[in-house]
Amino acid sequence: MTDISRRDFIQVTSASAALLLSGLDNTVIAAPAKGYPMKKIGNIKNLVENEPFAFTYPDDQSPCLLLKLPNEAIGGVGPKKNVVSFSTLCTHMGCPVSYSQGRLVCKCHYSMFDVSRNGQSYQGLASQWIAQITLRFDAVTGNIYAEGVEGLIYGRIGNLKLR
Ligand code: FES
Repeated sequence: MTDISRRDFIQVTSASAALLLSGLDNTVIAAPAKGYPMKKIGNIKNLVENEPFAFTYPDDQSPCLLLKLPNEAIGGVGPKKNVVSFSTLCTHMGCPVSYSQGRLVCKCHYSMFDVSRNGQSYQGLASQWIAQITLRFDAVTGNIYAEGVEGLIYGRIGNLKLR
């Protein structure tokens, strides 16, 4: 069993209450636990398998994509755990990557990242895994939210800070 302080309990319940009151429909809701915003990206019923949906997170300067894969993936959400999201900035020199057949491909120097394995770099000059967007799925509404980032977004000193 996990011990939780009174202060932590109040912070968690306050954040939960804010989400409930918002109806989970606002575009951006503060999520104070990690410092990342919670942002609604879309609804699972509108996603098409292997067709990426572009958005930005955690701010407008950070392009990302949302993917519905044919199979379960590490970090995947939804009933089949097959919805994942990544930054589209290559970790080598920041070129844009695109999705193709289960991987993100950078055409600048041919790096490839496995989208079913946390964005693992497995070919090319990029040695760092591409940043994965942490998702939350609302099973009642089908809405999908971004709520954090694992790994460093290219060109940043911190995911919430530009240079
Ligand atoms: S910028 Fe992507 S491999 Fe070099």
